[in-house]
Amino acid sequence: MTTNRPGVGLVSVGWMGKLHTRAYQALPSVYPDLGLRPRLVHAADTAADRAGYARDVLGYARATTDYREVLADPDVDVVSICAPTGLHHEIGIAAAEAGKHFWIEKPVGRDASETADIAAAAAKAGVVTSIGYNYRHAPAVEHVRELVAGGRLGRITNVRAVFFSGYASEPKGALSWRFRRDLAGAGALGDLLSHVVDLVRYVVGPIAEVSSLTSTVYTQRPVLPMGSGTHFAVIEDGELGEVENDDYTAALVRFAGGAVGTLEASRIIVGPQCGLGFEIYGTDGSAAWNFEQMNELRVCLGRGGPYAGYTTVLANQHFGDYAHFQPGPGNSMGYDDLKVIEAKKFLVAVAGGERRNSTIDDAHQVAEVISAAARSAESGRWERVPAVVHGG
Ligand SMILES: NC(=O)c1ccc[n+]([C@@H]2O[C@H](COP(=O)([O-])OP(=O)(O)OC[C@H]3O[C@@H](n4cnc5c(N)ncnc54)[C@H](O)[C@@H]3O)[C@@H](O)[C@H]2O)c1
Repeated sequence: MTTNRPGVGLVSVGWMGKLHTRAYQALPSVYPDLGLRPRLVHAADTAADRAGYARDVLGYARATTDYREVLADPDVDVVSICAPTGLHHEIGIAAAEAGKHFWIEKPVGRDASETADIAAAAAKAGVVTSIGYNYRHAPAVEHVRELVAGGRLGRITNVRAVFFSGYASEPKGALSWRFRRDLAGAGALGDLLSHVVDLVRYVVGPIAEVSSLTSTVYTQRPVLPMGSGTHFAVIEDGELGEVENDDYTAALVRFAGGAVGTLEASRIIVGPQCGLGFEIYGTDGSAAWNFEQMNELRVCLGRGGPYAGYTTVLANQHFGDYAHFQPGPGNSMGYDDLKVIEAKKFLVAVAGGERRNSTIDDAHQVAEVISAAARSAESGRWERVPAVVHGG
């Protein structure tokens, strides 16, 4: 492999598959100094029209309906795995066994045991991994992480974090693969709380113990065929199918470092749309951020004085990778830009450079929290989160 010109394979050409592709395409212009020039080589989707779109519109040299052809392609060096979650176990292990570095979407696998299998396969093969935890790359989030690590908020005492999404707030919202146990595993718990858990782990530290509950508000929805539409679709007169997992989940958590907190996720909430946010409170200050105002950060450093309370600051060139996208504050970055940062961290690690990417071990640790939360929702008891032995 020419590390600066890696051949890219793509598995699944849905929302995330297209977004990973745009991220690879943006790298040369956003980070010209890195000299990275990914080549779009081979894409797969079981929906033939989506595979054709990857070749004819996105610009992959080859397209197929069988992902195994992507993994067998000698010109493919790195693979983006953007398939429905229930397929990650099979495809992630196959990618590792084919010796391909992979960037895989969250949640990685349906539960902790599937994620552990993928982590073990990646460690055995010695491939580089990255996970679709895009929100951690938001410049304001990176800045809060630095504030916490530098002790600017004092000792962290408590955390509130939520992912309130409205993608299924409409009762006739489509029954996509996300609502089926075999294809998704958990509902809001896996799909949305995994982002929350990654964010608070990234900023505050590991979670040691969890007590949770889940609820399902809409038990039937109109069926959406695989490979069509999106999970935001509303179907007026469709055939109804059973919702098999949770619409809402809440968790009380204890962090290993002593802080406590509440985490919540909903996919049916009315009001917030992509409301992933956190409030982090310490003995000397606090910080609050929400993706719906991604470029704003509310901070309070110190207790009193004439400016007591939160100050709102705009993301700027001192925060994370902001300067690569905009020359000054006030020109907002967006969701897609976070994926460009993620692609950069992945390919820099593949090329043997700085390892700032999230890895399969992060995904495994997040999955242990999610699985502990699922156990707690069943048992009604606090559940410990097993420590992950890192595969490397
Ligand atoms: N990081 C994020 O913010 C984020 C956002 C959305 C989705 N995701 C994750 O990304 C993954 C994909 O979600 P999405 O929203 O892009 O899904 P999607 O429904 O838009 O697309 C899924 C695609 O997979 C294809 N597919 C199904 N079976 C296949 C197979 N055997 N081989 C190849 N392709 C197959 C379908 O035809 C479809 O085109 C999921 O794991 C999801 O949780 C992450």
